[in-house]
Amino acid sequence: MKFFVDTADLDEIREANEMGVLDGVTTNPSLMKEAGGADFHEHIYKICEMVDGDVSAEVTATDYAGIMAEGRTLAKIHDNVVVKVPLILDGIKAIKSLTSEGIRVNCTLCFSPTQALIAAKAGATYISPFIGRLDDISSDGLELIQQIVTIYSNYGYNTEVLAASIRHPMHIAACAQIGADVATMPLSVIKKLLNHPLTDNGLAKFLADWEAYQKTVNA
Ligand code: G3P
Repeated sequence: MKFFVDTADLDEIREANEMGVLDGVTTNPSLMKEAGGADFHEHIYKICEMVDGDVSAEVTATDYAGIMAEGRTLAKIHDNVVVKVPLILDGIKAIKSLTSEGIRVNCTLCFSPTQALIAAKAGATYISPFIGRLDDISSDGLELIQQIVTIYSNYGYNTEVLAASIRHPMHIAACAQIGADVATMPLSVIKKLLNHPLTDNGLAKFLADWEAYQKTVNA
C-alpha cells in the first residue's frame, strides 16, 4: 500500500518524508490556502523536488478547454506531477484527452461507485474516493472503497484506488484490508499509525530491566 501525505505544508511534507515511508503527496486548493502565500507552480515544483513520488496538483477550471490548458501547464512543472481533475462531465472528457497525451490524472471528489467506473473508463491514473466526507453525512466511506476495488478487479482496470479524506488510523487499517492501492492522509494520521500504549509500556519496562541487569553485572 502506498502512503501519500495530504498537505501542501512544506514542513509537514519534509517531516513525513524523513520517516522513509512516504510515496507521494496530494494537494488541493483548500490545502494551498492553508499553506498560504507561495506561487502555486513554484510551490508544486518545490514539493516535487522534496519527494521521490507522485505529487497531485489540482486544476481550478471547470470547463474542458480550461482543464486541458491548466492540466498541460501543471504537467510541465515536473515529471512527478499528477494532474488532479474533478469528477464532472468536462473533467471526464479532459481525463480522456490528458491521458491520451501521456499526462497522468488523479480524478478527485469521487463519492459513488458509478463515478469511479466512469473515471476508470476515461483512463484516470488514480481515483480519489473521499471516505471522511461520506462518513460526515452518515454514509459509509469504507463501503465505497470496497465497491470500487471490486468493480476495478471485475474488469481489470488499472486505475489505482487512492483512498482520500482519511480521518484516523482505523480508516487506514480497513482500506489496507480491502486492498486500496494508496491512502492519502494528514501527517497527524501517519504518526498515529505507529502508536500503541503496550509498545510504550513494554519498552519502558525493557529499559528499566536492562538498567537493573547492568547493576547486577557491575556489582
Ligand atoms: O485531498 C483530498 C481529500 O483528502 C480531502 O480531505 O479532510 O478535506 O475531507 P478532507
